[in-house]
Amino acid sequence: MFIINSPLVEKSELQSNIFLFKIHCPEIALIIKPGQFLNIRVTQAFFPLLRRPFSVSDVEGEYIYILFSIFGEGTQILADKKNGETIDILGPLGKGFNLDDDYYTAVIVAGGLGAAPFPFVTRKLQKNKEIISFVGSRTSNEIITYGMENVYTASDDGSIGFKGNVVELLKSKNVELINKKIKIFGCGPTPMLKALAEYCINNDLNCEISTECVMACGFGICQGCPIESAQLKDRFKLVCKDGPVFNVKNILL
Ligand SMILES: Cc1cc2nc3c(=O)[nH]c(=O)nc-3n(C[C@H](O)[C@H](O)[C@H](O)COP(=O)(O)OP(=O)(O)OC[C@H]3O[C@@H](n4cnc5c(N)ncnc54)[C@H](O)[C@@H]3O)c2cc1C
Ligand code: FES
Repeated sequence: MFIINSPLVEKSELQSNIFLFKIHCPEIALIIKPGQFLNIRVTQAFFPLLRRPFSVSDVEGEYIYILFSIFGEGTQILADKKNGETIDILGPLGKGFNLDDDYYTAVIVAGGLGAAPFPFVTRKLQKNKEIISFVGSRTSNEIITYGMENVYTASDDGSIGFKGNVVELLKSKNVELINKKIKIFGCGPTPMLKALAEYCINNDLNCEISTECVMACGFGICQGCPIESAQLKDRFKLVCKDGPVFNVKNILL
């Protein structure tokens, strides 16, 4: 784990309020795994005091990428940074996706900003797995398909793709997926992850999800990010240390 001030080398606004930062950070780029995250101190000023967590969105050589939208004060400060400014990064943190199981087809299910970790997952899997990506959001303006392949879209208002949420879209493709040996990778808002977990457990599908919660330290010290465990022996796990990626069978949402 490193704490590093790394330069922002390229800032782009992929679409309205969706920012992609390319950061030169060889120390982390060489070791970080898909699904792990970074805890970023957005300013050296006193407020906001706490770091903000972001998935590593992609890695290219010595460069790491984050993808985010302006949500509150911290992400606003981050979005205002200019090329050449440094970013105070703590990472890599948490446990990422297990990409090495026995499956032929990776099924990615992303809701809204939950698309953030999947360019890196796609890059790692595209040589030896078939990938099918399901991406959903409220409207067409918020759909993020950056860095993904073989994409089916869904929107709540029907302005793009399937009309409904992304888990309903996944269910509608059940017949096409049933004969494939699949593993599902999900990330998005908690209600979406809950629906995805229920579907996968009921249909005995192998599924890992990247969960979200408000964090402080990011590495297991403050105990501020509990998630209920499905195992009786330990009632709670920590999202930052035991996750953020969990098999759906191991947690209760
Ligand atoms: C492991 C992990 C990975 C993440 N990856 C990404 C990513 O790749 N891209 C991205 O855009 N966002 C990501 N997030 C969410 C991101 O961390 C929050 O949007 C960010 O911390 C908000 O900071 P802010 O200062 O802008 O908002 P704040 O002003 O801190 O918060 C505004 C509101 O959002 C709530 N909030 C704060 N933090 C979170 C949070 N972590 N989750 C949900 N609500 C929160 C606060 O309670 C408050 O009500 C991730 C979160 C986690 C836990
Ligand atoms: S954020 Fe401190 S223990 Fe998880």
